[in-house]
Amino acid sequence: PSSKLLIKGGTVVNAHHQQVADVYVEDGIIVAISPTITVGDEVTVIDATGKFVMPGGIDPHTHLEFEFMDTTTLDDFFSGQAAALAGGTTMHIDFVIPLKGSLTAGFEAYEKKANKSCMDYGFHMAITKWDETVSREMELMVNEKGINSFKFFMAYKGALMINDELLLEGFKKCKSLGALAMVHAENGDAVYEGQKKMIELGITGPEGHALSRPAVLEGEATARAIRLADFVDTPLYVVHVMSIDAMEEIAKARKSGQRVIGEPIASGLALDESWLWHPDFETAAKYVMSPPIRKRGHDKALQAALSTGVLQLIGTDHCAFNSTQKAFGIDDFRKIPNGVNGIEERMHLVWDIMVESGQISVTDYVRLTSTECARIFNIYPRKGAILQGSDADIIILNPNSSFEITAKSHHSRLDTNVFEGRKGKGKIEVTIEGGRVVWENNELKVAPGTGRYIKMPPFSYLFDGMDIKDAFYLNSLQAPVKRAKSST
Ligand code: URP
Ligand code: ZN
Ligand code: ZN
Ligand code: ZN
Repeated sequence: PSSKLLIKGGTVVNAHHQQVADVYVEDGIIVAISPTITVGDEVTVIDATGKFVMPGGIDPHTHLEFEFMDTTTLDDFFSGQAAALAGGTTMHIDFVIPLKGSLTAGFEAYEKKANKSCMDYGFHMAITKWDETVSREMELMVNEKGINSFKFFMAYKGALMINDELLLEGFKKCKSLGALAMVHAENGDAVYEGQKKMIELGITGPEGHALSRPAVLEGEATARAIRLADFVDTPLYVVHVMSIDAMEEIAKARKSGQRVIGEPIASGLALDESWLWHPDFETAAKYVMSPPIRKRGHDKALQAALSTGVLQLIGTDHCAFNSTQKAFGIDDFRKIPNGVNGIEERMHLVWDIMVESGQISVTDYVRLTSTECARIFNIYPRKGAILQGSDADIIILNPNSSFEITAKSHHSRLDTNVFEGRKGKGKIEVTIEGGRVVWENNELKVAPGTGRYIKMPPFSYLFDGMDIKDAFYLNSLQAPVKRAKSST
């Protein structure tokens, strides 16, 4: 395969601009973008006339080979990434979730898992306990390992959940490091109560999952995390925003000028809760994830929030469990491994739901699926753009062709698909990763070990150049009153 590529005659789309142009790629880098580029015979030419040439998707939220709820997700760093590439996503950011609390050991374990990668990836890291060692290891992760974001779980009591004290320590540490704090926002104590109540009532099926952790608990935790981030004066990223309740808290905070980022996910935009009431356990259990997929109406509101700028980017939370694994919870919904697919479907679904429907423009599509993620995690314009010097992670989408999602034809190892049967207009016909054509004519050409770890530098710009050490007090409190020592 040639390391020189010319993509001819397509509409090249970036987050703020589109134009008909040729794109010339050499050794994995975009070298030129110009109305007409002529090349020699040694260059592979791809005709993109009538099609959109866009930056490959970046999925900010995935869980590959994740050990969770007494099992491990089915898609690993090879199968999950292969699926991603077939769906037009060329980079993802996965969560290192250190099982025994040591961040270093957790990072090394994920490094090993990621050896089989066939596309570029980065890491967030979860903080599940707090002590001096964790605090020091966070410094190491940011300064040497290329991690610039940390996730705090406000739910999963007894497992990953942390309390407000740890949340505050973690937020302060993130701020001091120029790292972004992320939250899984659900009130874990209340969820625990809700779950017990459902079991007491004899509601043991998947619908108990939705009933035990209603949107109000997502709204509460989102509001609390936002206010605590405001108190510490550090930016906040809310992962998997699933409800109007959470979205409205984000909208309010952003309106007041607070730096809050909201990430809805493919399943939250495309599905509704009614599946959890399906009479067939196997079907209903597929849809169990946290926070739960909400009632119809929440999906539309999240879509609208993307189109108005209240929410900034779209993830998937791809966390793949097959029907055998989901069946662990046949007698008790609390034991159904939480998670749904999406890494392969996100780009097509968002095109169909948001662009085809007329809710957003093609440039907005690029911003929401790629550019904004690259900006937020400080890897723009290497990623997220078709610009001279950017990595050649490129997709070609044919707006006149169509896609159909089925478990039979998808590339994930899952035996099911939560988007089964979904059809729409707009088909990603070609995916180019690092200058290599990896998806063409419905065929994947991938090899393990070709993906690269993308380090993400800390983002001091978010902190307005403030002296970080004292900013916490300077910004949240009034200057202390100087008093003479009291005489006793
Ligand atoms: O149900 C979910 N979301 N599983 C993955 C873990 C998480 O909370 O992101
Ligand atoms: Zn331009
Ligand atoms: Zn989560
Ligand atoms: Zn997740």
